[in-house]
Amino acid sequence: KKHLNTQTYGQTIHYYETLESTQFIAHDEAQNDARDGTLIISEEQTLGKGRMSRPWNSAYGKGIWMSLIVRPNLAPHQAPQMTLVAAVAVTRAIEEITGIHPDIKWPNDILINGKKVTGILTELQTDPDRVKAIILGIGINVNQFPDDFPVELSTIATSLKIAIGSEVNRAKLIAKVLEFIEQYTKIYETHGFAPIKLLWEGYSNTVGKQIRAVMLNEVLDGTAIGISDEGLLKIRLDDGTIRGIYSADIEIQK
Ligand code: BTN
Repeated sequence: KKHLNTQTYGQTIHYYETLESTQFIAHDEAQNDARDGTLIISEEQTLGKGRMSRPWNSAYGKGIWMSLIVRPNLAPHQAPQMTLVAAVAVTRAIEEITGIHPDIKWPNDILINGKKVTGILTELQTDPDRVKAIILGIGINVNQFPDDFPVELSTIATSLKIAIGSEVNRAKLIAKVLEFIEQYTKIYETHGFAPIKLLWEGYSNTVGKQIRAVMLNEVLDGTAIGISDEGLLKIRLDDGTIRGIYSADIEIQK
């Protein structure tokens, strides 16, 4: 808290030693009218959740495992934009604290040297025409050694400590992340998505590349040409048609 320089985000913190997932608690809290900016954080998660029902490795004390409840004034179709706001904010915070310049892989994987250092899981509570709460689940690999990752992750995951060769102060990083999310959410609410889109495209390692987008029931090959004003990834398919996609696994082709 002493590092925290925000108006609302993170001003209420629920801290745990261990949880199944900070997402579960955040959903309960949001349902019970937790205020905008309430943060749930845990030293470890025994059932950490990734996108697409994957597990998320959340070892004790090694990373930042947290869920932020935000209540921006949005229609449900704008929610993907908020994911990109969070991705840009976390990337900026990592830059500021470590001096490293990570890439963002659409929609919101943050990579250092092609390996994943951060994942963001966005979940919603909605009425038909309004978002009641967005639960931003943020997992940052901070102080793992290479050996701390299970073998199946060793070639695809990294940590800030591996990247810069020294421990990173988690409290300072959390404070920076919250500051940037608050700042960029305000920019977004005041000026719309255009400035966020510009920032996001500056960090993107996806735009301009030949990609394969793997979705639940479809696979698309084409060139990523940018993101739409709603936050969808625009792909020019090999036959020339343009498609916007909400959610997929992106493989970047060489
Ligand atoms: C991804 O698949 O890239 C998203 C990973 C999100 C992990 C974070 S850790 C804090 C929060 N609680 C969870 O169970 N998942 C998210």
